[in-house]
Amino acid sequence: MGDPIDYGPLESLIGTWEGDKGMDRSPEPEGTEENPYTESLSFTPIGDVENAESQVLAILRYQQIVRRKSNGEVFHDQTGYWMWDSRAGVVMQSIVIPRAVCVLAGGRYTDAGSPVKLVVAAKLDDPDWGIIQSPFMRDGAKTVAFRHDLSVADGTLFYSETTSLEIYGRSFDHTDDNQLNLKS
Ligand code: HEM
Repeated sequence: MGDPIDYGPLESLIGTWEGDKGMDRSPEPEGTEENPYTESLSFTPIGDVENAESQVLAILRYQQIVRRKSNGEVFHDQTGYWMWDSRAGVVMQSIVIPRAVCVLAGGRYTDAGSPVKLVVAAKLDDPDWGIIQSPFMRDGAKTVAFRHDLSVADGTLFYSETTSLEIYGRSFDHTDDNQLNLKS
């Protein structure tokens, strides 16, 4: 057997979380739509990978499923990986959403206390942490920046994320936040 995998700050995310205090603020042609939501968020440890024989990443695969409170319908489905580079002290989140938008967000993990606080961010055309989107989205509903803050302690997870858009001829901060409890 090999050494146990060091998931670092990601260890605290492992499991399935549920929450019903979600709030989505998303763009409309003339303003903002507000959607209260419930959510299931699961993180599965899948081991580690080695890159170029010099970088080791410990990996969680995640899936986020969000339902509108008003009717129970899924209106956001998101998946990807969280990765921990213990030598560099860097956390990364790869994000895929079914609007033909992908993000690779990253950040340094500096504060080793409790609660565990994670911050990852990306910007369009940033050489390190970037955003890829279809031609349609680039031209009509462009994601220009993304930031995600999480705080985890004692079976409770808070997050807030801001997706900065250019849509309907203006800049719009599309925000999502929730508080979840560890179920299993
Ligand atoms: C809990 C998380 C999220 C929820 C509940 C959510 C929900 C929504 C909703 C309801 C809309 C409006 C759709 C419409 O009016 O047709 C929207 C638009 C959009 N979202 Fe999200 N979103 C989430 C996260 C994200 C993330 C992480 C990204 C990208 C990194 C993203 C990118 C977009 C884009 C580009 C649009 C513009 C499309 C449009 O309104 O026509 N969203 N989102």
